[in-house]
Amino acid sequence: MKFSIKVGPLGTKRSDCVAVGVFEGRVLSAPAQETDRTSRGYLTRVLARGDLEGKKATTLLLHDVPHVAADRVLLVGLGKEKEFDESAYRGAVTEAANALRQTGAANATLCFVDLPVAGRGADFKSEQLVLGLTEAAYRFDRMKSKPAEPKAALQSIVVQLGSDRDRAQAQTAIAHAVAVAQGVALARDLGNLPANVCTPAYLAQEAASLAKRHGLKCQVLDEKAIEKLGMGAFLAVARGSRQPPRLIVLEHRGARKKGTRPVVLVGKGVTFDTGGISLKPAPEMDEMKFDMCGAASVLGTMMSVALMKLPLDVVGIVPATENMPGGNAVKPGDIVTTMSGQTVEILNTDAEGRLLLCDALTYAERYHPAAVVDIATLTGAMVIALGHVATGLFANDDSLGRELVDAGERSWDRAWQLPLWNDYQDALKSNFADIPNIGSRAGGAVTAACFLSRFAKRYPWAHLDIAGTAWKSGPDKGATGRPVALLTGFLARRLA
Ligand code: BES
Ligand code: MN
Ligand code: ZN
Repeated sequence: MKFSIKVGPLGTKRSDCVAVGVFEGRVLSAPAQETDRTSRGYLTRVLARGDLEGKKATTLLLHDVPHVAADRVLLVGLGKEKEFDESAYRGAVTEAANALRQTGAANATLCFVDLPVAGRGADFKSEQLVLGLTEAAYRFDRMKSKPAEPKAALQSIVVQLGSDRDRAQAQTAIAHAVAVAQGVALARDLGNLPANVCTPAYLAQEAASLAKRHGLKCQVLDEKAIEKLGMGAFLAVARGSRQPPRLIVLEHRGARKKGTRPVVLVGKGVTFDTGGISLKPAPEMDEMKFDMCGAASVLGTMMSVALMKLPLDVVGIVPATENMPGGNAVKPGDIVTTMSGQTVEILNTDAEGRLLLCDALTYAERYHPAAVVDIATLTGAMVIALGHVATGLFANDDSLGRELVDAGERSWDRAWQLPLWNDYQDALKSNFADIPNIGSRAGGAVTAACFLSRFAKRYPWAHLDIAGTAWKSGPDKGATGRPVALLTGFLARRLA
C-alpha cells in the first residue's frame, strides 16, 4: 500500500472513496461536516433516516453523493466523542479498512488524522493509520492451493490533513510506520508458517536473505559451532529433535561513530514446542508453532531498522531449535552446564525457552552491549497475568524498563512492567545443580525472568514475555507481529 499526504479542504478532489468519521448520536466530525456542506446536507438527511448512529464498529457506504467529487463516501462510526481514545481510533481505522476491502476502490482518502484523540498528535494518529490499514490488509494464504479471496483493489491511501501545521510531523510518522509495517508483516509471516516449513534452518535462510536484501551482516552457527561455544543448555533442548539447531546473528551497523556499544535483541526461536519429555497436552498444541515469535520479532525489527537506516548499531541474536521428545532428548533431572559455567537441573523439559535464552544472553556479552532486550513466548503464566493486551516486561535497569514502557505507549504496542525483586529469586533452588530451570507455579512469569536474570548481570537488560501478545487464537488465529512496533520505536529514540 502507498501512502501520501494532502493538506487543505477536501474540495473537489477526485477519489475512489473518501472516509469520514461520525461520532455517536450522529455527530459529524469536521471532515464529515465539510462533506455534508458540499453535498447540500445529504449526509444529514441520510443519517436522519437512522442508517448510522455513529456507534463503534459500524460503517455506511454511500455512492454518488451529490456534488462530491469522490465516487464513494464511507461513513465510519467512531463511538462516543468523549470516549474517543487511542483504542477507539485504531478500531475506527480497522473498520474503515475492512469496509474499504469490500469495495472496488483502488484509492481512498482518509480523514482521520485530524480527529481529536486526547494527548495525541498527528504523529501518533498518522502512524496508527498506516499500521492499522496494513494490519487489516494482511493475508496469509501462501500455504493455500489457491487464494482464499480475490486480491484487494485498494492500493493507495491519501492521508488528508486539515492544516499545513501537521504536515512535517505526519510525513515523518508515515515513513516510520511504513518501515515498521514491513517488519511487522515479516514477523507475522514467519510466525504463521507451519513448523514443518519454518525450521531452525529455514529461519537461518530467511535471516541470510534478509541480510542480503537490506545490507545487514549475517552469521549462522551450526550445531558443531554451538557445541564449541559451550552452550550446554541450548544444546540440551535441541538434542530431542531431528532438525539441527542454529544460532543466528544479524548485525545492523548504522552508528556514525565506530566502537559504539550496540543494542542487542535476543529472540526465542523454538520453531515447535512439544514440551519435550515433559510433553504438552494435545489441545491447541498446534499453536506452539508460534513459539518462535520472539525470533520473528527480532528479524522483523532488524528489517525495519535497516529500512529506516537508523544511525545506531543493533545486533539480533536468535537461538533456533525445536523442542521434541526424541530418543536422545534431555530428561527431567538431567543437569547441563551453560555457556556461563553455571549448571542447571532441567526439572521440566517444557521450560525450554529459558534454556536457549540463557546461553544466547551469555553470547551477547561479546558485543559489549549498551543494552540487551530479549523477546520470548516464555510462559503460560504470563497469559494468565496480563491476558492478550500487554506484553510482560522485566528489567534489571530502571531507566531501560521505563524506555520500553514509554516506547510501548507511543507505538500503542504496550508493555507492563512486573517486579524482578530478589524475594522471587528464592524460588530457584536445586539440590543437585546451581539452579533448577523452573521455580514455583506461583508467579511463573516472574520466576522465569529471575532465571534469565542470572545470565544478564553484565549489562542493562530487559525481558519481554510475549506469550499473550505474539499471536491470536480462535477464528482470528495468527501471529500479530508484536512487539516489532515497540522495539522499533524504542530503537529510533536511542540514536547514538
Ligand atoms: N512456549 C511455552 C510458553 C507458552 C505456553 C506460551 C502457552 C504461550 C502459550 C513455554 O516453553 C512453556 O512451555 N512454559 C511452561 C513453563 C513451565 C513448565 C514452568 C509453561 O508456561 O507452562
Ligand atoms: Mn515449553
Ligand atoms: Zn516454549
